[in-house]
Formats: sequence, C-alpha cells, structure tokens
Amino acid sequence: CGIVGYVGSNLAYPILIDGLKKLEYRGYDSAGIALHTGDGLAIYKKEGKVAALESFAEGQNLLSTIGIGHTRWATHGEPSDRNAHPHYSNSGNIAMIHNGIIENYAQLKSELQQKGYTFKSDTDSEVLLNFIEDIKVNNDCSLEEAVRIALKRVVGAYVILLLDKDLPDTIIAARKGSPLVIGIGENAHYLGSDASPMLAYTKEVVYINDYELAIVKADELILKNIGNERITPFVQKLDLELAAIEKNGFDHFMLKEIFEQPQTIFDSLRGRLDGGQQTITLSGVDKIADKLMAANRIIIVACGTSWHAGLLAEYVIEELCRINVEVEYASEFRYRNPIITDKDVIIAISQSGETADTLVAIETAKKQGATIFGLVNVVGSSIARLSDAGAYTHAGPEIGVASTKAFTAQLAVLYLIALKVAKVKNTITDDLYSVLVTDLVKVPEHVQQILETQDQNIREIAAKYTDARDFLYLGRGYNFPIALEGALKLKEISYIHAEGYPAAEMKHGPIALVDEHLPVVFVATKDSYHEKIVSNIQEIKARKGKVVAVVSEGDNTVTSLTDDVMVVPLVHEIIAPILSVVPLQLLSYYIGVNRGLDVDKPRNLAKSVTVE
Ligand code: G6P
Repeated sequence: CGIVGYVGSNLAYPILIDGLKKLEYRGYDSAGIALHTGDGLAIYKKEGKVAALESFAEGQNLLSTIGIGHTRWATHGEPSDRNAHPHYSNSGNIAMIHNGIIENYAQLKSELQQKGYTFKSDTDSEVLLNFIEDIKVNNDCSLEEAVRIALKRVVGAYVILLLDKDLPDTIIAARKGSPLVIGIGENAHYLGSDASPMLAYTKEVVYINDYELAIVKADELILKNIGNERITPFVQKLDLELAAIEKNGFDHFMLKEIFEQPQTIFDSLRGRLDGGQQTITLSGVDKIADKLMAANRIIIVACGTSWHAGLLAEYVIEELCRINVEVEYASEFRYRNPIITDKDVIIAISQSGETADTLVAIETAKKQGATIFGLVNVVGSSIARLSDAGAYTHAGPEIGVASTKAFTAQLAVLYLIALKVAKVKNTITDDLYSVLVTDLVKVPEHVQQILETQDQNIREIAAKYTDARDFLYLGRGYNFPIALEGALKLKEISYIHAEGYPAAEMKHGPIALVDEHLPVVFVATKDSYHEKIVSNIQEIKARKGKVVAVVSEGDNTVTSLTDDVMVVPLVHEIIAPILSVVPLQLLSYYIGVNRGLDVDKPRNLAKSVTVE
C-alpha cells in the first residue's frame, strides 16, 4: 500500500491526489483520503485506481489544508469501497490509514466486539483504529498517548497516519516495519511511503525508524520513541530529481525503464569498476572482507525478481570464488529454523529494501550472528539500514511494477562483488578476470545495441505470440535464472501462464505440454553447453513446438533451427545473462501491450510487498 499526508498552508487535496498517483505502483485496488475541514472529518474513498477516487470526490467539500491518503493493496478483505482506507473509528472522531498487517487483529477484534464495537469493513486496520479509540476513551488521554499504548500490544507491521476531529492542525504517525518518510517544506510537512510524493516540494526529508511516533503540524515536527522520549529528527537531503519519476515521453514506465538500462547499468558500475586499471572498488565488501574471506557459505535471501538475481549470483560466486552459496526465498528461509552461524554471510537482495519477508529473514539471521550485506536500490530503506554493510544498485526509482532495470543493476553489482572477492581470494586466473572485467565494462553499450537493433524485431515476434495460452522458457547454466525471469516477466505483464525450467530437466515433465500451439523460448546464447541446448531445441522441434530463441550474434546453427530469434552480442558466458534478459523484458512488454493490459500496474501485484 502507499500512504501520503500533508499539513501546511496550501490546499491538501491536490497534493494528496498527486502523491497517491506517484505511489500507485505500491497498490491500486482502492484509494481514499481523509481531510480535516475545520469543523470535522471528511472521508472520500473508492474501489479502483486513484482516478476513480478523483471522479468520486469531484464537487465535494475539499477545502482543507490537512489530510491523509491511501492507495491499497488488499490483504484482509476484498478490494471494495468499504474496505478502502481511510477508516472512521466507531465514534467518527478519528480517521486512520494503515499500511501493513496486524497479526493479532482477530483477538483484538473479539475483545472490541464484546465491548460493543462494530465494524464496517473486513480489514485489520479498522480493528487497530478502534483499539486506539477504545484506549483513548478509557484512559481519557490524548490520541498520541493512545497510539503509543496501543502499539505496545499490536503484533505485526504498520505505518499508520491518523487525524483527530479535536486536532484540526495535527497528523499523528507511527511506524514499525513499513516505511515512512516525512518531507520538510516551508510551513508545511509531507508524509509518504517513499519520497516520491514530496519531491516536487522539498528535498529535505526525515526517514522515520521503527517504534517512532511523529506529531506533525505545519510548522512543527515532533518525533518520539514508544517510551515517549523526544528524538531529534535526522534531516537528510534527497539526491533525486522529479524527472526520474516521470515517463519522459515513453508510453509506460516499464518501457522507459527497459530503455534506461544502458545508463542504469553504467551508473551501477561507475566509480566501482576502473576498466583501464581493472580494479574494483566496493567499500561495502571491504568493510566485511574478513568475514567474507572466512565465510563457510554465503546465503542469498530475496523474493521475486531479486531472487532470480540471487540464483545467478550463486552460479557466478561458486564458480569464481569457490565459496558455497545457497539461495533462499526469504519467506521460506525465515520460517524453517535454518542453521545459521557467525561464519555465514547473508546477502539480502531487494529493489525496494522494504520487502517484509526479506527484512524479517535478515533480522532473524542477524540475531544468530550472521553478517548481513544488503544489495538494495532504495537509499535509506529498511534493509539498507539493517545491513552491516552493503552496496546500492544505482538504478534510480523503478516505478513499473515488474522489475527490469533494478534486476540488471543487481546483476551488475553482483558481478562486481564476485569478481572482487575472487581476486582477493585468488580463486580466479588473471586471464579470466581480465576477460570478465572487459566484458562487464561493455555491458551498457551492448544493452544499447540490443535495444536499437532488436526492438522492432521483438515487436513482430510479440505480435505472433500474443494469443498464446502458455509459454515455456528454457535455459541451462548461467542462463537458467534468466529463463525463470523471462517466464515471470511474461506472467506478470501479460497474464499468460509461463513456466521457466532448466532446459534438460524439461524432459522430465514439461515436454508433455509441447505441441504445435506451445511457444518455447530458449535462452541459448553461446556457452560451454551450447550443443546440449541445441539438442533440447531439436527435441522441442521434433514435437512441433514453436521455438523462439535468444542467440549470440553469429550463431547460425540455432538461428536455422528456430522460428524466431532475438540476437544479443557475443560475450563470455558468465556475463551473457545480463544481456539475454533484455529481449525477454521487451517480449513480455509488447505482448502485454498487445493484449491491452496495464503493464505498469498488473492486476493483483504490488511493487513493494511490505506484508508477509
Ligand atoms: C514484488 C514485486 C517484484 C519484486 C519482488 C521483490 O513481488 O512485484 O517485482 O521482484 O516484490 O521486491 P524487492 O523490492 O525486495 O526486490
């Protein structure tokens, strides 16, 4: 979910709506706002995107200089007007929005029901709100005090913003486990799940930490911890331009972000890889060098696309550094009582730096003594702050819900980490190191070449397969994670069922699906097992499957065997995956567009999953 707030001397409504649109990538099944109109609270909320809320609110009383807003990604309760935020407390005196999950809501709800409270929605959020109200009434205390008491009993993750009928100039906010940023303007404060809603107004922000409570007025920001002690806000300057979160003439953010990759990969390597000297500078790696060199194993934890980057890193780090690597879905890792020691190094990979499962996985591992290295895109995010050391991917804000440029930036930095560790451990030959560094430096220009030469070709391929019902994506070795990522991208954007599989393993099951209707995408760039994948292609052709292949420039064998090819420059097999994924991103994008879908905001998905 995305949350915004404003208190100042301007009209709040347009600022809130604009902010919600910037945060829609975090959730978009319903949206709502609450305003303090001087004599009371007004809530407007609607199922659907922010645009639906706007039409609904038109003509209503929107005159107010203080308000809060929410765009939802449903957890408890279907998307509907009734379950949309903000919620009113039973008395109607408090309005609240919430991002996160209250785990003990069922117990709290039955306690409240016994006291006569009723609920208009199915959400855990409305339970929390009435719990706060109940405390406020019983203790005859301020809202701030009631929030503090309530949060001591709440299990789960939250950011909450509240408006109180009796406090026409104040927003109360609190956080545990979900992100909250407060922007400092001139006689105004802005609140948001990230900094994007406030970028147009201010560059000075405060990142709120877990268990902190903010009392926000136009001219005053008071921060307190849960023990009611004042904390001095740490004001940071944002290094982000508004242009970075606009579409810049592209039809969709996704396409813009695919085309930004030459730059974002370059930015992620810049200052870290000196092509001439062939040296790699990564201060985060230096910081935990002792631990890395002595590590029993590296455990990579991540979710979704970031997990695919981790899977490739496993292949690369094991090959180059000879360190045992395990790749874990954060959600599985955290619940299965894994064996962790202080000899383990955890690499947490996350675009947002806020994914709840990844965050809790590293908290758990840290408690057991592991060293945490964060590979994160969003500066100042929770995972970045919890890590002992780390490296940022410099992909810039990624708005398209399906990850593209963040993924290639992750791969770029993971290559750097592997090469640097291999060099220090002396597990790589000088020749191989030199080949890989040289290829890595050229990745931005190679991606540029793919975008320039393949875009039209891929549009045509996409047109041929737009109506397919299923897709199979196959790859071997370093390209196996790319097959998984290609399939995930297609599923997310086109709603076509797609499965990624190791090309050889395909014989043990998926081959049963192959007939003349099934497109099979092979990630078949030149590598040491090239002949093997050529055989796999023939196995599919023999069963009349349609084959689309990502091939290396000059590979006539595969080209002659397949129905369609997408060509990428020939590079070392270890570096090839960062190129092979680009055509697959474009293929999903054009198929999604052909199917008339909202590729930037695919149904049911959220960019940043801050619930478990
Ligand atoms: C969500 C997004 C995916 C992303 C995953 C992990 O599911 O839709 O695109 O890969 O979360 O997110 P993270 O921010 O941790 O990389």
